[in-house]
Amino acid sequence: MANKKFFVTTPIYYVNDRPHLGHAYTTIAADVAARYHRFLGEKVFFLTGTDEHGAKIEKAAQKSGKAPKEFADENSEKFRQSWKKLNISYDGFIRTTDPKHKKAAQKALEVLYKNGFIKKGVYQGLYCFGCEQYKTKNDLIAGKCPDHKIAPELIEEESYIFKLSKFQDVLRKKIVKDELYIQPKERKNEVLAFLGQELRDISISRQKVKWGIPLPFDRRFTVYVWIEALFNYLTGIGWEGNPKELPDFWPPELQLMGKDILRVHATIWPALILALKIPLPKNFFVHGYFTTNGQKMSKSLGNIIWPEEIIEKFGVDAARYLLLSVLHFGQDGDISWQKLKEEYNADLAAGLGNLVSRVINMAVKVRIENKESKIENNEVKKNIKEAEKKWKEGLSQFKFSEALASIWDLIRFCDQYIEKESPWKESKNQISVINDLLIALASIAQFISPFLPETSRKIFNQLGLASLEKEIVFKIKKSEPLFPKVIS
Ligand code: MSP
Repeated sequence: MANKKFFVTTPIYYVNDRPHLGHAYTTIAADVAARYHRFLGEKVFFLTGTDEHGAKIEKAAQKSGKAPKEFADENSEKFRQSWKKLNISYDGFIRTTDPKHKKAAQKALEVLYKNGFIKKGVYQGLYCFGCEQYKTKNDLIAGKCPDHKIAPELIEEESYIFKLSKFQDVLRKKIVKDELYIQPKERKNEVLAFLGQELRDISISRQKVKWGIPLPFDRRFTVYVWIEALFNYLTGIGWEGNPKELPDFWPPELQLMGKDILRVHATIWPALILALKIPLPKNFFVHGYFTTNGQKMSKSLGNIIWPEEIIEKFGVDAARYLLLSVLHFGQDGDISWQKLKEEYNADLAAGLGNLVSRVINMAVKVRIENKESKIENNEVKKNIKEAEKKWKEGLSQFKFSEALASIWDLIRFCDQYIEKESPWKESKNQISVINDLLIALASIAQFISPFLPETSRKIFNQLGLASLEKEIVFKIKKSEPLFPKVIS
């Protein structure tokens, strides 16, 4: 499997504020995927970044009394800082204000214009500035955008228009046949239902928005922010805008996104790629929302929990674990401080942390050291194998919460095994039971490594191992509890 490539992307985030949990969630999920594929020995490129142009950023900058670039610089840096705190191992961080991105996006638009995919006209529609998207009447609830709870504005202006409607049939076919594989299935069906209606051409230029990339063939306009933002997935790996010269990592194996931006990604994005005659991305994985009391967590609704607050209270690895386990594959998940605390105490303090300290303490007491260990009990062996199988299945299908569940099944099994065998008491089995538990711990350390990299390292350290080697020789070291109980 050596040298197989794996290119994974997150959406690029708007710089109207610092990152919140929703942003952190997608980025942690991409990080887990990247770490897992590196573990498999593949050549990985993990791309993330910030989306810095458009009316939304222009307005937010104005409100804060700063020039848009200065404002974007500050907030983009906050994303980098948060990703550093969350131990995000990205390989590339693209900013759409980067001159290389601007130049490449302009070049791509020239190609599309020359090849007849862009025409001039007048565009009219209902525009939501929160989404930076035109909405149809069907998208609105009581006349308002359901995500931003504001009524969109009617806009009519001279425009350059991308002939999106031309791609309706081909997009449908590619999605039905999973050539562009959208998971989970409900989301794929939602896109197909949308593609069953008439697909409208879209405006790719803005006359009144100054904060953007000038349209190369008519500089009175700037490029619609979504169009240039989508090109980040290419420019972020070094594309210069020539469809015939593609970077090695193209196409992405996995593009992660929340459900609010699926439609743009499943229509405009692949249509642009098809128009440029470039291979399509392979997989979209679409996740749900963090909600508080059933409402999407967002700045406009003022119900945000910040990633830094979670890190401060529980630690980095715990923050990564808690976020990924709260949202179930593709669904929404309600989040609250109470729930986070309960989960932390149950799964990490009383679960993983307690198991590690119990087993290490017993191993220290019976002085298991420098002993070459092979697993003896068949039940332990079977449970490790089963967990490994489900862990791999979960991770290869990007079902992160399921991969985590398989590890926690193994943790629970070990707890029960300890209760059953009472290895703290002297017996003829005592050493072999503790040995088996140590091997189970080494496997757990391996399985958690994409999710909780620091904890994995600490457990291996206590076992005296660098990783899960074939020939295990333990050198046990006792150390501080991994996850002290959180009381308030
Ligand atoms: N800039 C665009 C994406 C352009 S990609 C070419 C954008 N940015 S965003 O900052 O608004 O959101 C980025 C991602 O964060 C989306 O995938 C969105 O679904 C996710 N989240 C924003 N709020 C969320 C929650 N409350 N819960 C989970 N994720 C959500 O859209």
